[in-house]
Amino acid sequence: MIERTLAIIKPRAVARNIIGDILKMMEENNLKIVALKMIHMDRKVAAGFYYVHKDKPFFTSLIKFMTSGAVIVAVLEGKDAITRYRKLMGSTNPDKADEGTIRKKYAESLQANAVHGSDSPESAEYEISYFFNATELRPYHY
Ligand code: CDP
Ligand code: MG
Repeated sequence: MIERTLAIIKPRAVARNIIGDILKMMEENNLKIVALKMIHMDRKVAAGFYYVHKDKPFFTSLIKFMTSGAVIVAVLEGKDAITRYRKLMGSTNPDKADEGTIRKKYAESLQANAVHGSDSPESAEYEISYFFNATELRPYHY
C-alpha cells in the first residue's frame, strides 16, 4: 500500500551538515520526499509532538534536545513507507542498529539518534498534520 510517513532529521544531524547524506539514503530507498522544511521547535511544539512520551523518564531531556537547534521535517511517500522507513532508520538505540541503517551510520547517542520516523499509520497521520497543512500536502506528481 502507498503510505506517507513523517521523518525528522534531529538537531545534531542538522548541525553536523549531514542533512544531504540522510535525505540521500531516504531517496535511494525509494522513499519520495513529498514535503520538506526546516523549523526550530519551541518547547510547546516539541511536547505536543512527543505527547505519547509525556510520562517517560526521558521526556524532559528529549524536549530539551529537540528544541536545541533546527530540524528538518519531511513527509516520505512510497510502498509500505511507514515500515520501510522504520527499517531504514534502524533501532532506537544505535548500539543495536543494523549495518546500513541511518542510525547505525549517523547516531551519536540513544537520544541524538539522527532521525525520527512515525511508528504506525495512526501516528503518521497525527505527525504529518502536526507539521504540514493541506496546501503543503498536495498529491505528488510523479
Ligand atoms: O524514535 P523511536 O520511535 O525509535 O523511539 P521512541 O521510543 O519513540 O523514543 C523517542 C525518542 O526519544 C528516541 O528516538 C530518542 O531520541 C529518545 N529516547 C531517549 O532519549 N531515551 C530513551 N531511553 C528512549 C528514547
Ligand atoms: Mg517513536
